[in-house]
Amino acid sequence: MSKLIFEDEDVKSHANMDYIQNGGHAQQNGIPAPVEAENADMPSALCCGATGEAYDLTKRINPEDKRLLNCRQVDVNQLMPLKYEWAWEHYLNGCANHWMPTEVPMQRDIELWRSNALNEAERKVILRNLGFFSTGESLVGNNIVLAIFKHITNSEARQYLLRQAFEEAIHTHTFHYIVESLGLNAREVFNMYHEVASIEGKDKFVMELTEDVLDPNFTTQSIEGIQKFVKNLIGFYVIMEGIFFYSGFVMILSFHRQNRMTGIGEQFQYILRDETIHLNFGIDLINTIKLENPEIWTTELQRDIYDLIHEAVEYEVIYARDCVPDGVLGLNEDLFREYVQFIADRRLERIGLQAVYGSKNPFPWMGETIDIAKEKNFFETRVTDYQSAGSLQWDD
Ligand SMILES: [Fe+2]
Ligand SMILES: [Fe+2]
Repeated sequence: MSKLIFEDEDVKSHANMDYIQNGGHAQQNGIPAPVEAENADMPSALCCGATGEAYDLTKRINPEDKRLLNCRQVDVNQLMPLKYEWAWEHYLNGCANHWMPTEVPMQRDIELWRSNALNEAERKVILRNLGFFSTGESLVGNNIVLAIFKHITNSEARQYLLRQAFEEAIHTHTFHYIVESLGLNAREVFNMYHEVASIEGKDKFVMELTEDVLDPNFTTQSIEGIQKFVKNLIGFYVIMEGIFFYSGFVMILSFHRQNRMTGIGEQFQYILRDETIHLNFGIDLINTIKLENPEIWTTELQRDIYDLIHEAVEYEVIYARDCVPDGVLGLNEDLFREYVQFIADRRLERIGLQAVYGSKNPFPWMGETIDIAKEKNFFETRVTDYQSAGSLQWDD
């Protein structure tokens, strides 16, 4: 039976393990100590293209020459031979998890939503989360396509980014499907990102990081450029997908645990499974960029990252308070503060920084390995068959 592994289990990412095994950092109590940059005026970021020469199309590529950023010696159109096996592995895992929202039955949700069995506070929790996720997913997709992709000069990492971009489109599709199924006001849901302050705060926070990289003058050809790029990756992979989504996961899965709104709950389980891989890829990406460009990991950058995480935790607590102001489903602001701080610590550790909050996990069920018992049923009840090559039909 398939297992749904939740990221909170602190699964070490491949690059993070390499990072530690390569002895890049002295460790104290198992936590890598911050590292001072050396020779900050000698950007090894340019190691691949140090000669300034572009790749020679007449030569076969050497995988050892591959770099995640600023690679000018390897034809980025050539996937094989692989260098970053972790990127390919995340790509394969993403493909293995493929799902479509329309395959999840919504009838029970529709009946419950139309009944009087949900109170106003519970409806608000659901609506707020639909509002946040519906546009949040697009922001992540846009950041991949418009900001990140261009600067990643490695084909296996790009292969994963293409897969992830499609998954974000599927997630956005999910919210369209839910809104249609429940007969909700689509304009209300899809406009919450600038009409509801607690959602707007989170979205603006990450959108500013996209704008930094979207600047036409932006490049990763300097230490500052790579640092800005890494801050974008932290903002999206670690904060948006690794912190900002998690209060929502807890809220919606709390309904699911009570056997209510099970269609939405199931969809959130599949999104959570996808997001776990997105986060793991992001952590591997960040840690490998650090390995290849150690001079960027200055005390100042580390301080900036702590500040970003701290700010994000506060935005997330404001969001949780707005969703459950008087407590709903046994959830309240205090529990979410603890939870958000707990996952923020886990994220910090995975990028080689120290935990700062020391909070306990108030929702241990989120960190368990969960049998996705419905998976079998999920595929048995699918209403849409994917077209296989043998069944393709072309319109004239
Ligand atoms: Fe997503
Ligand atoms: Fe994602």
